[in-house]
Amino acid sequence: TVLVVDYGAQYAQLIARRVREARVYSEIVPHTMPVAQMLARKPKAIILSGGPASVYAEGAPQVDRALFEAGVPTFGICYGFQAMAQALGGVVERTGTAEYGGTPLTVTSPVSTLFHGLPDSQQVWMSHGDSVTKAPEGFTVVAATAGAPVAAFEDNERRLYGVQFHPEVLHSEYGQQVLERFLYEGAGCRPTWTMVNIVEDAIERIRRQIGDKRAICGLSGGVDSAVAAALVQRAIGDRLTCVFVDHGLLRAGEAEQVERDFVASTGVQLKVVDAAERFLVALKGVTDPEQKRKIIGREFIRVFEEAAREIVAEAGTHGEQVEFLVQGTLYPDVVESGGGTGAANIKSHHNVGGLPEDLRFELVEPLRRLFKDEVRKVGEQLGLPPQIVWRHPFPGPGLAIRIVGEVTRERLEVLRAADAIARHELTEAGLDREIWQCPVVLLADVRSVGVQGDGRTYGHPIVLRPVTSEDAMTADWSRLPYEVLARISTRITNEVPEVNRVVLDITSKPPGTIEWE
Ligand code: XMP
Repeated sequence: TVLVVDYGAQYAQLIARRVREARVYSEIVPHTMPVAQMLARKPKAIILSGGPASVYAEGAPQVDRALFEAGVPTFGICYGFQAMAQALGGVVERTGTAEYGGTPLTVTSPVSTLFHGLPDSQQVWMSHGDSVTKAPEGFTVVAATAGAPVAAFEDNERRLYGVQFHPEVLHSEYGQQVLERFLYEGAGCRPTWTMVNIVEDAIERIRRQIGDKRAICGLSGGVDSAVAAALVQRAIGDRLTCVFVDHGLLRAGEAEQVERDFVASTGVQLKVVDAAERFLVALKGVTDPEQKRKIIGREFIRVFEEAAREIVAEAGTHGEQVEFLVQGTLYPDVVESGGGTGAANIKSHHNVGGLPEDLRFELVEPLRRLFKDEVRKVGEQLGLPPQIVWRHPFPGPGLAIRIVGEVTRERLEVLRAADAIARHELTEAGLDREIWQCPVVLLADVRSVGVQGDGRTYGHPIVLRPVTSEDAMTADWSRLPYEVLARISTRITNEVPEVNRVVLDITSKPPGTIEWE
């Protein structure tokens, strides 16, 4: 394991991902973790991340010197670099030459572990106010920029390394290579975190946890629950039963993807509950978005509970027990809920929160250690259909929050038809990987006048909301090619009679959210 010590900026997760891209397993720990505890995890290497603070700021996180005396190869980045310099007797100053953004860097030492084999001049991404002006004793300065005479240093004796720039961002031309130089050469890590190993390791852990008991898993149609279920299926076979609550709010073809394609590719035992009618009844007359979410969450848990009870009872007749519930929690959820240290942190998710006392399961979370891109790779490795593996994010409440107004069967059909056209054309144009997601929204209570053939129409608008994003926290509207937009518009207005207008949402987030409700 490589430990990435988080100093509170947004960079720690990115660093951890880059380490894994170098096929070395990494985990994030808070900077408040005592050094003894870090060392107890026997890390192969430690990386100190960037952070927002100045090392001189009051209450700035310090690095315990003991960290550098433990003999563990360590790499300081940005704030971590300065903290390392300061802790070991170097000088960090506010020189007045802050650097932000792309900056040319010169490698100044003919022999360097970090830069060996890389060009002497390279572009790096900087973001610092303070600078290291003197490296600590024992260190060699190996690179400089105009504003940072000490832009990188190393002590190969003690295997301590540091850079002022951010090697983890793509704007640093050779950033990944510098990071890999540290991992492979500086720290002697081996690239063993491969897909085959990830899958085998996950299966092994699942078997150890579940033993000879039984488990259930709720499928949503999304990639996380599908991959989690497929892994558990590999591990315990038919002792896993999956439940798919079809709330009737999915898009065209998605229920079939779960019921047919997922089952065919995994051999999973699946219990399908068709609850579409029940959700429609519960949503009758409701227009408030939050109210819709509450109702759907409530109904979902009730239906899931009934199904779970049936599965538990059925197992009971064979003298077997269902003790485990599989959930697709990802590593970022674990980190963000302050976990990652082994404590059970549960993503609050409508399909588990709220199960009654007498129906409590122990959680199995086989994706707890994985980032989303790794989950997709595992899905591919397990042979899941690409429509599931590469599915864009889709909200749990489904199309109900993409109909502005009351949800009815007819409106769902209209929206489904329009959405299917938009998705088809985006896929045909090869744009799926470029956009984060593209909600298609029906303004069910809005009507406008149109003309079709000789006749006047009075139909509804459909909104296209294509966005680009890194994490859904912020987003920008996608600049889709006009021809693609034109095709979508023409087809929707021709093929969906209730719709006579297609409009494009050109709002970023903030101020708009990605969904309309
Ligand atoms: P917003 O609309 O808040 O969406 O910008 C951010 C991301 O979250 C998804 N989303 C949801 N997902 N239940 C979910 O499981 C919800 O109630 C929900 N609302 C929004 C949305 O699709 C986007 O990816």
